[in-house]
Amino acid sequence: MRRFIFPNNLTSRIENPRFSRGIVQRLNCALLLAVVLLSAAPAALPQAKRSDYFKPAEMMKIGVYYYPEAWSPEQWERDIANIKKLGMEFIHMGEFAWTFMEPEEGRFDFAWLDRAVALAAKNNLKVILCTPSAAPPIWLVRKHPEVLMTDLRGRRMEHGSRSHGDWSSEVYRRYVGRVVTELARRYGNNKNVWGWQIDNEPSHYGRNYDYGAASQTKFRVWLERKYKTVDALNRDWGTSFWSERYQNFGQIRIPNPDELVQRANPHAVLDFYRWFAEETADYIRFQADLLRQNSRNQWITTNFMPLYSPVSPPASGKDLDIVTWTLYPVAGGQNSDGALGFRLGDGGSMSFIHDFMRPINGAHGIMELQPGQVNWGSVNPQPLPGAVHLWIMRAFAGGSNLLCTYRYRQPLSGSELYHKGLVEPDGVTPSPGGREFAQAAREMEILRKNYKANAPMPIVYRARRAALLYNVENRWDMDNHKQTARWNTMEHLLKYYKPLKSFGAPVDVITEDKDFSAYPFLIVPAYQLVDAGLVKRLTDYARGGGHLVLSTRTGQKDRRGHLWEAAWAAPINDLIGAKIAAYDLLPEPLKGQIKMNDAQYEWGVWSETLEPRAGTTALAVYADQYYAGQTAAVTRRLGSGTVTYVGAESLNGNFERDVLRGVFERANVRTENFDAGLIVDWRDGFWVATNFTSKKQTAPISPNARILFGSREIEPAGVTAWAE
Ligand code: GAL
Repeated sequence: MRRFIFPNNLTSRIENPRFSRGIVQRLNCALLLAVVLLSAAPAALPQAKRSDYFKPAEMMKIGVYYYPEAWSPEQWERDIANIKKLGMEFIHMGEFAWTFMEPEEGRFDFAWLDRAVALAAKNNLKVILCTPSAAPPIWLVRKHPEVLMTDLRGRRMEHGSRSHGDWSSEVYRRYVGRVVTELARRYGNNKNVWGWQIDNEPSHYGRNYDYGAASQTKFRVWLERKYKTVDALNRDWGTSFWSERYQNFGQIRIPNPDELVQRANPHAVLDFYRWFAEETADYIRFQADLLRQNSRNQWITTNFMPLYSPVSPPASGKDLDIVTWTLYPVAGGQNSDGALGFRLGDGGSMSFIHDFMRPINGAHGIMELQPGQVNWGSVNPQPLPGAVHLWIMRAFAGGSNLLCTYRYRQPLSGSELYHKGLVEPDGVTPSPGGREFAQAAREMEILRKNYKANAPMPIVYRARRAALLYNVENRWDMDNHKQTARWNTMEHLLKYYKPLKSFGAPVDVITEDKDFSAYPFLIVPAYQLVDAGLVKRLTDYARGGGHLVLSTRTGQKDRRGHLWEAAWAAPINDLIGAKIAAYDLLPEPLKGQIKMNDAQYEWGVWSETLEPRAGTTALAVYADQYYAGQTAAVTRRLGSGTVTYVGAESLNGNFERDVLRGVFERANVRTENFDAGLIVDWRDGFWVATNFTSKKQTAPISPNARILFGSREIEPAGVTAWAE
């Protein structure tokens, strides 16, 4: 990961007269000397171990957001005491409060936050503090309009909402750096402060990318570092076509659909997405470094929107102590199964996010969980009674170290009125979500009482361990050039992920830096961009006894996004033991047919006709179109493992499920057959079954198990936990 060097240490801010006023006025000489010495040695202060922050026996801490600045100070004491009474263990504050922390340039006011932190401590609540950089104050944007982001139509965004700061702007970073430093100095040694959240959902929401002058410049610098010469860039971007050739890096602009007559160059787009994700990670790191330099024994995170693809959470894995995210399962329009799905959310997607975030650096949790109806969906239905509790326990089962809900009080004014909190608008009566949080807090106590350190993972569960290989770059490339409007990368991935959960398998969604050999099963869906090194690792994995499953589109291109000057997906042909003769796509609403054993499946998104080589078995054939009888999926043995290639995406995922089941069966690994949406996981010695389906389900509890809460028969939104 490349890093940009910014004049972001305190020395340079003090030397710069534009930034010195506020600080210098308030520092005497001795302090100034200390500051300069400190900044000359930017090393982080000694920090605790992760197990000190997140004690294994506590498993998952539960807490809530509170915005003291939005409520009358006379109510803080009551509110914070009530938060404790609900069973909360921590309280989250400070987010978006820049205008209160620095009401005028260089004048900092933390007295109000001191009082709120002290009230939390009095009530034995830990505190998570948040840097306020997602909400620049009006004085800043009026003085420096260049800190505002620019959208794809070249319009500068305005004050009056949030996330409108341009984190590529050096000026913005200086101001952010100063407020973060002041905040960290104030609370970095405060024993009541447990950890830090950086910014809020680092993103520009629906505006996605910044196209302003600072971004243009930094993108060019990045390209020059990457390619060294413009000839190399021209080669990799394929600019010979349409006379796109550049003569120097200074001529390049961010590929912007609003400035172009036709489709942007796909290689330029891929590089822009790479740069933007790295730039966002750099901004997170910039704040994390400042926090670490000024705090002691406090952990650091940011709250990602995990599947929001302009940002890449794994890129921040080394910079954060814990990776957290925001989760709002019911806001209308979700692709959730069953009659009650719109009130329950999609358990499979939720589980996918846990399994994606957990392996990044080992510590993870939900920083914002929906507490009830929200205000921003296309339609904002009520969650089913019990659904909030269901989501909390899914987070527990997924291994979360913390679970925080957004928010304690329902706002009575401002952009988020209508958003439920843990209490009703009167500020004191627990809402349905508040009661479900209180229930979960009581259950966490039951679980902690029954906790046994180092409980071994049950053998049957362990035997099913599967990894799904994910690289956001594949998603960027496919989403940018789908080739069929029916293509949806996440849906494709979920057609592999959800069956694994219905088999009762523990899954990690991993990136390429991880060791594949830890998993008996490795699924590599639609992995479009490959290189020889990756193909060799996959080959070695199977040779060494792993069961490898690849799907459509895998290996079509190199990492630049070029097709191979060879057979289609040539680098994987030897691995899968087949040639990929052609691919086909059907316009809506047409469907094609596939046959496997005695079953028939429908496809519509993507199909590939395969030509198996000697030693490779055809698993399924197409049953119509002019290529009826040709192969749709193959499998082969390789060394002591197997390789399976699935050449079609089915409409409902049943084909993928049945192919996967065959892979497990041939490996002699017994699987469950849960309805999609009954998700059962094991954690720290506890089994937890969460029912996201619209009907009653039976938990797979063995006769000698001890039910800790819930019951054998689980209603929709029900949860059962047991120990064996
Ligand atoms: C999140 C955001 C919060 C709040 C919440 C409302 O996406 O991070 O600040 O706006 O939505 O549901």
